[in-house]
Amino acid sequence: MDDKKLFRIASEARKKAYSPYSKFNVGAAVLTSSGKVYAGCNIENATYGATCCAERVAIFKAVSEGETNIKKIAIEGDNDGLTFPCGICRQVMAEFAPDMRVVLGKKNGEIEIFSLNQDLLPHTFELD
Ligand code: THU
Repeated sequence: MDDKKLFRIASEARKKAYSPYSKFNVGAAVLTSSGKVYAGCNIENATYGATCCAERVAIFKAVSEGETNIKKIAIEGDNDGLTFPCGICRQVMAEFAPDMRVVLGKKNGEIEIFSLNQDLLPHTFELD
């Protein structure tokens, strides 16, 4: 699946965001090595701390279906420009693909490509 199509799926997922506290809606979609796509949105909680980002919802959906080989992720947030994944999500992404392709886009559909280990999370934490 090409980057733009995956980004459109992330954009659709953003519409399902449960974000009554921040009102900041995020959508994400991951493509796995089997060719399947899992989408997610941010899910907030009244405790705030129990909130889960869209990226982790999408990744955890894939992994809980036995799909740990993730090729790329697309993300759309509420910013005017690109929405970059938070630090916790970067580390979760690195768990499943240190060299994950990260497709970030704006609401006008323009996308930019980043590499997880080269651009977003060099020197990932690893257990020996
Ligand atoms: N959020 C994400 O879904 N992904 C990120 O990478 C950063 C932040 C969500 C969490 C919260 O629901 C809202 O955006 C504001 O932080």
